[in-house]
Amino acid sequence: MQTSWVPFVPPSASTLSGKVDALYFYLSGVTVFFTLLISGILIFFMIKYRRRTPYEIPRPIAGSHKLETLWSVIPFIIAMSMFAWGAQLFFERSRPPNNAVEVYVVGKQWMWKIQHSTGQREINELHVPSGRKIKLIMTTEDVIHDFFIPAFRIKADVIPGRYTTQWFEATKPGRYHLFCAEYCGMNHSGMIGSVVVMEPTEFDNWLGGNASQQSPAVAGQQLFETLGCVSCHGASGEGGRGPALAGLFGRQVFLSNGQSIKADEAYIRESVVNPQAKLVAGFGPIMPTFQGQVSEEQLMQILAFIKSLQIQTPGLATPGPGPAATPGTVASPTTNSKSGGT
Ligand code: CUA
Repeated sequence: MQTSWVPFVPPSASTLSGKVDALYFYLSGVTVFFTLLISGILIFFMIKYRRRTPYEIPRPIAGSHKLETLWSVIPFIIAMSMFAWGAQLFFERSRPPNNAVEVYVVGKQWMWKIQHSTGQREINELHVPSGRKIKLIMTTEDVIHDFFIPAFRIKADVIPGRYTTQWFEATKPGRYHLFCAEYCGMNHSGMIGSVVVMEPTEFDNWLGGNASQQSPAVAGQQLFETLGCVSCHGASGEGGRGPALAGLFGRQVFLSNGQSIKADEAYIRESVVNPQAKLVAGFGPIMPTFQGQVSEEQLMQILAFIKSLQIQTPGLATPGPGPAATPGTVASPTTNSKSGGT
């Protein structure tokens, strides 16, 4: 396990960790500076203005506008610098870049189940390449847990019935701690693991080592068929009695209540377990709920499948008996008027 030479400070091993540390040391620095300044002045004044005779009467003090303005404005500027710096870092941290590699994480009492987009599964271990952006899409099967990698300075709750995301780019190969940072029952303290950062080529070999495993998108496609989703949404998500799913992910969806929403992970998950919650404009409440019929991992597979459904632009369509379409590709150009609403 990688350790740091500074006590209590975990090793710094992601593109974000140096920035978080800089902010943290700034906050600590400001705190230490003012603690010393105020206690120093306190002691100095105690001695300088001590009562010298029992009958001494202090000189009355009138207010000073200059002084009061100064000690209001300076702390205001310092506080705002913390706010602006912190907010900037918070946004950077909480917005995963678009080109990130996706990894699915499911927490459960008391383990972390991880699946890569190629199908590779792990428990309490996360293998990642250095120098690549990784986006974690996370949820839990039972209670709230918290996925914490101190060396990367990232930490986020996993919440039942919701997806949370966080991202990182590891910089140094090595093995780092992975913790559950939310008390989740008896073996909370044992809900630990490690993150193994490898050189990209080494990682590709590792990932290729178990190529027989099914990718989440392919598993999701099978679920899509066995659960009967195809009868309304079409075998390739082209739509029918239900809205089209091809090209849906990331797009704006118009709802029957006149609102619109971005089709993100949370929306798709909700539409599977509680289809009536947000009806797409132009469609009736005919879809049954799949709550309890699919596990969190299966929901993630369905999500991966829906994400993989792309609309082929006419110019790129393969004419005739070309190479077999990859799973989840719509063979013919499809319009999305069904879900577009009017
Ligand atoms: Cu899971 Cu604490």
